[in-house]
Amino acid sequence: MNTYIGVIGGSGIYDIEGLENAEWVSVSGPWGAPSDQILTGNLDGVNMAFLPRHGRGHVHSPSTVPYRANIDALKRLGVTDVISVSACGSFREDRAPGDFVIVDQFIDRTFARDKSFFGAGCVAHVSVAHPTCPRLSDACYTAAKDAGITVHKGGTYLAMEGPQFSSLAESKLYRENWGCDVIGMTNMPEAKLAREAELCYASVAMITDYDSWHPHHGEVDISDIIATLTGNADKGRDLVKRLPVLLGTDRAPCPHGCDRALDYAILTAPD
Ligand code: ADE
Repeated sequence: MNTYIGVIGGSGIYDIEGLENAEWVSVSGPWGAPSDQILTGNLDGVNMAFLPRHGRGHVHSPSTVPYRANIDALKRLGVTDVISVSACGSFREDRAPGDFVIVDQFIDRTFARDKSFFGAGCVAHVSVAHPTCPRLSDACYTAAKDAGITVHKGGTYLAMEGPQFSSLAESKLYRENWGCDVIGMTNMPEAKLAREAELCYASVAMITDYDSWHPHHGEVDISDIIATLTGNADKGRDLVKRLPVLLGTDRAPCPHGCDRALDYAILTAPD
């Protein structure tokens, strides 16, 4: 099987640098339209697809991103490996704005989103005990290191509904009681849906701020976020362009079974 990397880009990242045979294509399926057209092409001999999570022009809020259509569209194209790139706030003094975190756990506090491809008619329960793919996450970590980015391997991401930022009490709860490392609004249900679609998924969370808990940084302010975001976006694009060489063109079955997640998950009897 050939590697096909799908990148879901968050705020600040709207294309892949150096992509050959680049073409924006429309993909549709039964879950509605994805956030935007998808930029396809190849880099170092590897197929790549890029989907701007919020759409070009940033038209989807975290709650209105069509998560199911996005994952379905990437699957339909033949993507095998999904890299999520997104902005986040930090709950740790030693995870500073400008640093990247390769997230490996989530607490899902979103509540206004469609979270599954399964439901009436076909019931399935996949495991998300380990919601990210270690093989893909390792490649992202190496790519970040090679790009000279300050990167942290592993971390728990609190996925909140938004669009407002957290209250001080929430921020302290997630940090002090729940042990979260970062906070963002978009990685859920994306990671769960990728697992249901049997796609490997890794999350590159780019820190823009200290959320509201930090005594010396005050409230989260969108203008501060945007200032950090611009630098982060350049680093994120550098990371992404290193992935094809690291992952290679030939892809063996995922050693962690992400691509076989449904083997024992479907409960509904076939017709
Ligand atoms: N995205 C960037 N910073 C964030 C924060 N502090 N909370 C939620 N989402 C964010």
